[in-house]
Amino acid sequence: MRTLKTVILFGAIVVCITWSPATATWWLLGLNSAQFQSSAELTPHIYRDKCNNLTYLVAKQRQLCSLSQNVLKIVSEGARMGISECQFQFHMHRWNCTTFTNSPYVFGHLLGIKSREKAYVYAISAAGVAYSVTRACSRGELTECGCDERIRQRPTRGRWEWGGCSEDLRFGEYFSKEFVDARESRSTADGLMNLHNNEAGRRAIRKEMELVCKCHGVSGSCSMRVCWRRIRSFRNIGDSLLRRFESAINVRFVNRKKRKKLRPMKRGYKRPTKRDLVFLEESPDYCNRNMKLGVLGTSSRLCNKTSWGMDGCKILCCGRGYQTMVKEVTEKCNCRFIWCCKVICEQCQVTREEHYCN
Ligand SMILES: *[C@@H]1O[C@H](CO)[C@@H](O)[C@H](O)[C@H]1NC(C)=O
Ligand SMILES: *[C@@H]1O[C@H](CO)[C@@H](O)[C@H](O)[C@H]1NC(C)=O
Repeated sequence: MRTLKTVILFGAIVVCITWSPATATWWLLGLNSAQFQSSAELTPHIYRDKCNNLTYLVAKQRQLCSLSQNVLKIVSEGARMGISECQFQFHMHRWNCTTFTNSPYVFGHLLGIKSREKAYVYAISAAGVAYSVTRACSRGELTECGCDERIRQRPTRGRWEWGGCSEDLRFGEYFSKEFVDARESRSTADGLMNLHNNEAGRRAIRKEMELVCKCHGVSGSCSMRVCWRRIRSFRNIGDSLLRRFESAINVRFVNRKKRKKLRPMKRGYKRPTKRDLVFLEESPDYCNRNMKLGVLGTSSRLCNKTSWGMDGCKILCCGRGYQTMVKEVTEKCNCRFIWCCKVICEQCQVTREEHYCN
């Protein structure tokens, strides 16, 4: 822990000098994550060079990168998880979390708009890093952290015992805060919005802790149950943040001399809690292709004719209508169960309709 504190202190000084308000391009680590899997075999000197060569990281992030040879792998994994969860959650929305491998901005210039989509991207990627670091802690991949030992003091009323490795979120949250928040400024509207949403992302994890237990005892008698706490799957966090996305709160920037802050857009609107996502600007409609922004548009997207939701042809195609294609596909059919234990099917030709937006 002490080494990290030193790095952070030192980092803070450097950051003040080199801070630049560019897009959070540390997400590039997520697109290149395969490249950072094997850093552990490098010599410390070459690893440090590797961190310092990542010019899309700000100085403090490079310092944190050098902390341990597993950091690059762990943070890249967090970024990758965030991006792929965003794509899963949005795959049926007009904007489907498109990334561009040939752009240093990862999501195109779209995130120049302080929209609710931007809020989701920040939240899920801050959560990704906290999640990935926490997992690494319980695997023993970082020396600064480990399992949650303090939890063993919590009463279990004798029904079971604490055992195994309970995941300790504290360091993961702390690291995510230091790393992901490093480039944000508390004095700009954009910075405040990003910091708020990063924090909301990390808090979404705290709510997804579960208790898992294992039975011990003579021949499965379960006379003793041993339990530990762990984070539920990252999918749960993506789901929970999507609900926050849907109820995201429109805020405005209040620029007082002493304190700059975000307040609800209109008087009487709900004040955002630390768990809510906030946005400053309305989203574009994402209907038409706009490569300057990095919006692909919804033309030729597959839609669902019978749905009234985001994936329905009506909404997804932005009223432009759709084309139906009839496809012949081979499917398993007339399956029978044969005692014991086989399932025998026939192959049938079926026609299926697919709808694509104009
Ligand atoms: C870092 O960049 C320098 C100069 O571009 C290069 O010579 C060196 O090989 C790079 N080091 C690593 C570890 O990628
Ligand atoms: C997003 O939509 C575009 C078409 O607009 C498609 O080419 C792309 O594969 C989709 N991406 C994902 C992750 O679903």
